Amino acid sequence: MSKKLKVAVIGCGGISNVHLDGYKNNPNAEIVALCDINFQRAIEKAEKYGVPAERVFDDKDKMLKAVPEIEAVSVCTWNCAHAECTIAALKAGKHVLCEKPMAMNAKQAEAMKAAAEKAGKLLQIGFVRRYGNDADVLRDFIDAGNFGEIYYAKAQYLRRNGNPGGWFGDKSRSGGGPLIDLGVHVIDLVRYVMGNPLPVSAYGATFRKLGNRPDIKDGVEYASPDSQGSAKDICDVEDLATALIRFDNGAVLSVEASFSLNIKSGVGSIELFGTKAGAKLDPKINIFTNMNGYMVDVGFNKDTSLSFGGLFQREIDHFVECASGREKKCRAPAEDGVVLMKILDAIYKSAETGHEVRIK
Ligand SMILES: NC(=O)c1ccc[n+]([C@@H]2O[C@H](COP(=O)([O-])OP(=O)(O)OC[C@H]3O[C@@H](n4cnc5c(N)ncnc54)[C@H](O)[C@@H]3O)[C@@H](O)[C@H]2O)c1
Repeated sequence: MSKKLKVAVIGCGGISNVHLDGYKNNPNAEIVALCDINFQRAIEKAEKYGVPAERVFDDKDKMLKAVPEIEAVSVCTWNCAHAECTIAALKAGKHVLCEKPMAMNAKQAEAMKAAAEKAGKLLQIGFVRRYGNDADVLRDFIDAGNFGEIYYAKAQYLRRNGNPGGWFGDKSRSGGGPLIDLGVHVIDLVRYVMGNPLPVSAYGATFRKLGNRPDIKDGVEYASPDSQGSAKDICDVEDLATALIRFDNGAVLSVEASFSLNIKSGVGSIELFGTKAGAKLDPKINIFTNMNGYMVDVGFNKDTSLSFGGLFQREIDHFVECASGREKKCRAPAEDGVVLMKILDAIYKSAETGHEVRIK
């Protein structure tokens, strides 16, 4: 058996659970330290995952100094701390898996990528949808040329009443609303299955019309552990974002993401339109093409819906393999995180100015 990768987690909230489970279940990894500015939260996780109390910290710098054997770090903090925690870990010579979105903006993301290059360490971004069974099927069909040229795509991640509250609605900690939180997943998934084309421009609009809907009595679709109840939470992020993103291969992606929207029910779907065939992932994959002069709709015998079982495990396993040097090609490298942040910056800027924004 190979030597175990010694990992630490910074930020011990909701998403840290899947990182910690992933490391715990990976025979080549070992959790050696934890950190959260909410010390109690880190202590609770330490008890659950068997990390000794002397290796639990409320400050990342103290942890990085006190536990030199750490080789890799998962950054699972609020978005506003991704850059500072990632750069500190890279400077200390650790590999980093940073949750999505990579940062608050492209400038921070570029600084993180530069820090990884300078340190000669891996910086993987938590684009978990890249490890989905549905992404594998789509890529398999696309790479084999079944869709021809894909020139248009649609991606929707819409919640009806799903502002999680807590830091998610507080722009100073999140960087934005559903676009940076949810849109990031589906924009990246479309880019990934299309072979990562580079964006050239974006035209977008954002709306703050419904807010976090404290008047709705049915409860929210997704609640943050920090939420004090929607009415008291800060809410200065958009509740709907829509955009057209143009890529260097001529393809255009239309994206919509919401926390709050008067829609029948939540939607999470991807559509691809190519010269030979189209596809809709909703959540099962269906392919639309023609055969022998007839329009045919192709379904799959097995369920192609995204299965959450094992999804994060595959992401963590990949990080462990890459950080340990056994896997050379990272599936979600920093450069794709930077591209995504450039797209998000351009959409927010376009929404502010009312004009299309060029992306360099
Ligand atoms: N990949 C996914 O599908 C997915 C799902 C949920 C969340 N996320 C991402 O994970 C991150 C965390 O989200 P969450 O839902 O776990 O939030 P959370 O509020 O449950 O947890 C975040 C934790 O980070 C801690 N923290 C904040 N700043 C810190 C710092 N400087 N140092 C140490 N700890 C710090 C907070 O105290 C909190 O405990 C976000 O970036 C979010 O976008 C990804």
